[in-house]
Amino acid sequence: MNDSVNSIDKKTVWITGASSGIGRAVAEKLAQQGHRVYISGRTVETLEDIVQQFDFSKDSKASTNAGGQLIALPCDVTDDAAMVNVLQEAGVESLDTIILSAGTCEYIDLPDLDINMIRRVNETNYFGVVNACIAALPILEKTAEAANESVDRRPHIIGIGSMSSYLGFPRAEAYGSSKAAMSYFLESLRSDLGDRIDVTVVYPGFVKTPMTDRNDFPMPFLVDVEEAADIILRKADRRPLTIAFPARLNLLLKTMTLFPRMWYSGVSKRLRRTGADT
Ligand SMILES: NC(=O)c1ccc[n+]([C@@H]2O[C@H](COP(=O)([O-])OP(=O)(O)OC[C@H]3O[C@@H](n4cnc5c(N)ncnc54)[C@H](OP(=O)(O)O)[C@@H]3O)[C@@H](O)[C@H]2O)c1
Repeated sequence: MNDSVNSIDKKTVWITGASSGIGRAVAEKLAQQGHRVYISGRTVETLEDIVQQFDFSKDSKASTNAGGQLIALPCDVTDDAAMVNVLQEAGVESLDTIILSAGTCEYIDLPDLDINMIRRVNETNYFGVVNACIAALPILEKTAEAANESVDRRPHIIGIGSMSSYLGFPRAEAYGSSKAAMSYFLESLRSDLGDRIDVTVVYPGFVKTPMTDRNDFPMPFLVDVEEAADIILRKADRRPLTIAFPARLNLLLKTMTLFPRMWYSGVSKRLRRTGADT
């Protein structure tokens, strides 16, 4: 999406997981560019704080006010029943883009293969994406109809996956499987949607956010969250099938997919938490 937009290019965007990290950074940049952005997370107070901070900074920089807007839309993506009508109930009548960033990460500690934890992570990262698509698809289909084959107006689904789904990472049985499932779901959806709605799956490496601040293992090529949001928005403009960054980590992991034995017997060991393999 362009750096600043005139009224005809103004888009309506829904972002899940916009109360923090990547989703929040992307939401604020889009609103600064002049777009209308619905931001979702589970806590209404957090979302309202973000809206207030944005409105305050907009007022204090009236000369650069591009007319963008953040609107709080609290929801829990794991709540199947509530998610079906979440957009209608919030009065969202049109959408150009949805960005599915809501996610959680928990790690396995063998020998405890905790089924409840694996379900919990998959509920958010996989079924949460499914729920958001169920909510948004009828509205995106209307946008597609109105777009009348104009590529610029074609609706766009952007899912935040993870490079962890390229290969088996240590302790990522829950997280990696949820990301592999959500990527596959979105790729399959892309096949069914044909050229009515574009689908992009984003594969970040490590991005510095509250999620990764909890990690206690090496995170090579860690990317700043503002830089991550800039990369996603700049690349999403061209509506690619995938966006993967940082390039060096992507190249390294893609190469490892060609030499899986080298990955499992060597490199992946170095990512294990100290003591996890004892
Ligand atoms: N950071 C990385 O290195 C990295 C790498 C690859 C992929 N990713 C993916 O990028 C996405 C964003 O991660 P992040 O690093 O920005 O993490 P983050 O700062 O922890 O943000 C996670 C967001 O998801 C929301 N969320 C969690 N559970 C939810 C639920 N049940 N319903 C609605 N919203 C929920 C959180 O909001 P509330 O808690 O307020 O509900 C928060 O806004 C995730 O999908 C993550 O898996 C991150």
